[in-house]
Amino acid sequence: MSDKKMILYLLDTDPLPSPFDINVAYDAGYDIVVPMGGINEWNIVRIIEDAMFSRGEKGAKNTKIFLNGSNHAQLKRILDIARESMIPGFELTTCIDPRGGYTTGATLVAQVEAYLHLIEKKSLKDCKVIIFAGTGMVGQTVSVLCAKGGAETTLLSRSQERAERAANELNMTYRVDIKPEAMGDEIHRVELCEDKNLVFTCGAPGVQLISATTLQKIPENKIYADANAVPPLGIEGIEPMWKGVEYENSYIFGALSTGQVKLKVEKTVLQEMMDASGFEIFSFLEYYDFAKEIIERKKNKKKSKE
Ligand SMILES: NC(=O)c1ccc[n+]([C@@H]2O[C@H](COP(=O)([O-])OP(=O)(O)OC[C@H]3O[C@@H](n4cnc5c(N)ncnc54)[C@H](OP(=O)(O)O)[C@@H]3O)[C@@H](O)[C@H]2O)c1
Repeated sequence: MSDKKMILYLLDTDPLPSPFDINVAYDAGYDIVVPMGGINEWNIVRIIEDAMFSRGEKGAKNTKIFLNGSNHAQLKRILDIARESMIPGFELTTCIDPRGGYTTGATLVAQVEAYLHLIEKKSLKDCKVIIFAGTGMVGQTVSVLCAKGGAETTLLSRSQERAERAANELNMTYRVDIKPEAMGDEIHRVELCEDKNLVFTCGAPGVQLISATTLQKIPENKIYADANAVPPLGIEGIEPMWKGVEYENSYIFGALSTGQVKLKVEKTVLQEMMDASGFEIFSFLEYYDFAKEIIERKKNKKKSKE
């Protein structure tokens, strides 16, 4: 066991790192959490070098990086620069979760997938999936995971150009086949949802994407999952705490239904990082595996109590 304290640098492109992540990091068992805001492409190199070389090779193993921020493109550039700045033997294990978007998207998909299996004995590869507001961090995460799981996946935006840009980038990076579409008016939204099994609404806080009348017009027997917990919610008439509640002859997951699992996923990531060494990157593909394990354990625990 190393006598070096376990330190987490919480590096954020926004001015203020979130107390949420600081609290989760301490609860995960870190000795010291250092929140630093205003991280950019220019100051990241010095921060990585100073964090890396100040504690020797043993110390580098106990020094971890958590990258966060609202600007996803900038965060990806910073991750690349951080990776290039690390010297063999001194690499710092790193995780990335832009404003909770990766952990939230991964949890949302794992939760819906478990429910899909429970009620219909189906998996993602049997499904057609549509993601409203798929251009944000949550929507992109959901889109990639569904496509990787074998679902026919359509990503929506208000703008055809933004949908294409996001889908093209994801398709190239993750070798998937996500189809871009503009969301359009109510008639078009109903048409787009008609043959889909799963509908995710991943809009910005307070943005309603499916009105009550639209929902009534969409054919039944679908699973809906909303990411927006700020009223008005992504789907009119639902409740944020709903977890597979039957409504309008479909099943609904509200935004707050994922809260506990998402929190456990983040804690698990931070704990797994403590045991990892070298430049291992934890991102949403790993978070998705953790979310599935956590949901499976919960299910087994419930079964053993019955
Ligand atoms: N529970 C958690 O811990 C947690 C963590 C992260 C996020 N969330 C929630 O998950 C949701 C998605 O998060 P995010 O960070 O991915 O969101 P985001 O980037 O702020 O927004 C997602 C997309 O919403 C669309 N949008 C924005 N304003 C709109 C408007 N007025 N009308 C229609 N569409 C609009 C935009 O797509 P287009 O411009 O392409 O149409 C945008 O790309 C949010 O509601 C957020 O609060 C929850």
